[in-house]
Amino acid sequence: CGIVGYIGSKQAQDVLLHGLSKLEYRGYDSAGIAIFENGAVSVKKSVGRLANLVELVDGADRLSGSQGIGHTRWATHGRPSDNNAHPHQDDNGNFTIVHNGIIENYQSLREELIAKGHTFLSETDTEVVAHLLDDMWTGDLFDTVLAVSKRIHGAYALGIMAKQEPGKLIAVRKQSPLVIGLGEGENFIASDIPAILEYTRNVYILDDGDIAVLTADAVKLFDFDGNPKEKDVFEVTWSASAAEKGGYDHFMLKEIHEQPKAISDTLTGRISEDGTKVVFDELNFPEGFAKDIDRIHILACGTSWHAGMVGKYAIEKLTRIPVDCEIASEYRYRDPIVSKNTLLIAITQSGETADTLAALRQAKEQGTRVLAITNVVGSSAAREADDVIFTWAGPEISVASTKAYTTQLTALYLFAGWLAQERGAAGAAEVPAMLTALRDMPAHAETVLETAPAIQAFAKDWSSREHAFFIGRGLDYEVSLEGSLKLKEISYMHAEAYPAGELKHGTLALIVEDIPVIALVTQDDLYEKTISNIQEVKARDAFVLALAWSGDTEIGKTVDQVIHIPKVSAFLAPILAVIPLQLLAYYASVARGNDVDNPRNLAKSVTVE
Ligand code: G6P
Repeated sequence: CGIVGYIGSKQAQDVLLHGLSKLEYRGYDSAGIAIFENGAVSVKKSVGRLANLVELVDGADRLSGSQGIGHTRWATHGRPSDNNAHPHQDDNGNFTIVHNGIIENYQSLREELIAKGHTFLSETDTEVVAHLLDDMWTGDLFDTVLAVSKRIHGAYALGIMAKQEPGKLIAVRKQSPLVIGLGEGENFIASDIPAILEYTRNVYILDDGDIAVLTADAVKLFDFDGNPKEKDVFEVTWSASAAEKGGYDHFMLKEIHEQPKAISDTLTGRISEDGTKVVFDELNFPEGFAKDIDRIHILACGTSWHAGMVGKYAIEKLTRIPVDCEIASEYRYRDPIVSKNTLLIAITQSGETADTLAALRQAKEQGTRVLAITNVVGSSAAREADDVIFTWAGPEISVASTKAYTTQLTALYLFAGWLAQERGAAGAAEVPAMLTALRDMPAHAETVLETAPAIQAFAKDWSSREHAFFIGRGLDYEVSLEGSLKLKEISYMHAEAYPAGELKHGTLALIVEDIPVIALVTQDDLYEKTISNIQEVKARDAFVLALAWSGDTEIGKTVDQVIHIPKVSAFLAPILAVIPLQLLAYYASVARGNDVDNPRNLAKSVTVE
């Protein structure tokens, strides 16, 4: 989601709508603004793209006033709708707020407030904050915000205004980004710099636990205990278009770097407090179904299909239920064998891929229970499936998918663990250790991102080639598929992924001197076998770049170059192993001068069959 706030002498509506247009990439399923003038707050909101809101406040319907807050939404709790769009208010319209993030304890707060007589108009977690401000009102807005922030858990960035205190905006940051723009006689709130770059280049970048109190002439900073804070003014030197990408050259690179947070968000709330159990409150399987499932079909396209290949492995290992993972456009037309005990899992980042939706609908018609794993709340897949697991990757803009894949893997490992525990499968014994390892994954992913300079150098040297091969065995092969797809999509190099043991049955004929071969070597049980396969390509003078565990000192004796990644279990390796491959594709594309975020012939979401 994106939030923006303004206080000064300009028409707030213009500033807010401009800011929202620059934040639309953070979410675009609904938008809204609230403007404060002469003791009254007017709120306008609309489902759909920002253009719908712009139409609503056009001409005679313009909201006048020079203080306001606005929001563009990426739905988390509650589907996209006018009611669920922000800003939200309490019953009396005294407190108006916009929010980005997730209030984890909203359910219990909501129940408590309803019991006290509050009426909720939306399904959002956000609305509880407006009602809490009303409920806890001390007569002073700042004091009340301090008290409320002690009661809400989770990640949030808030923009708040109160009728009782005109001429003031409050911004609160906990784990969701927020900046304060500093102007002359005017000040701004934004979840990201591009929203305010038109008006100022001087900003405070808020840290976790910062609260800012804005008037037109001053900005004061405090911590959550109300103690004043000092902060340096940050001068933005980026261009407007670089700012939109968080200072990265492309959305793809930004999204690659967002993976530690995206993985962490996808784990949030899904591991029991003692760390031993998977919690999926969102799954509503009929009584006994989890135990009765005797076959699982995973369907998806593109990158999501590759995630499904790892999911098959994970679910089979932990539950011993046979799993098929198929390309959705193939599955539809081949008369698959299903029964009432089949579970179909449709994986789709966008939730709108026509091939995946068609397969999902066909399965539903046949009476198969469908679980969707998707990144978009309110998408067709989310609405039509019987159950949904959301990946919390946030909007993915780059056509080449990155953070969607790693969050899909995270969701699939969790689901495999959950199903094993529900069924009392032998594999359930492995789940607590898996959960501990998953929790460490965001930190490991950060470490893997440090391999970027080495990969960039390799990509630069090798990007003039026309062919590349990715080889691996077991899960390394599944990750190779995704590495090869990434390279094809954005560098336009011909790339092939091959199970390393299968090379000798045909593809080895293509291995000639100096051809780049990327070898994945994370599967401990297959280590020696993989080394033998690498020797087969080395004997044909290929140039081999290996991806191996840190601490593996042997591998360097066989290959030309090694990229080391932090050691985790072979089972969870795909989450980390894919990251250097994403970087490789990215830097190869840049070196070849391609349009990284919008590769030729491809679309982010393919809504035709
Ligand atoms: C398109 C995109 C791919 C994506 C695939 C499936 O082809 O270019 O990056 O993996 O669709 O998309 P979905 O939204 O269903 O995951």
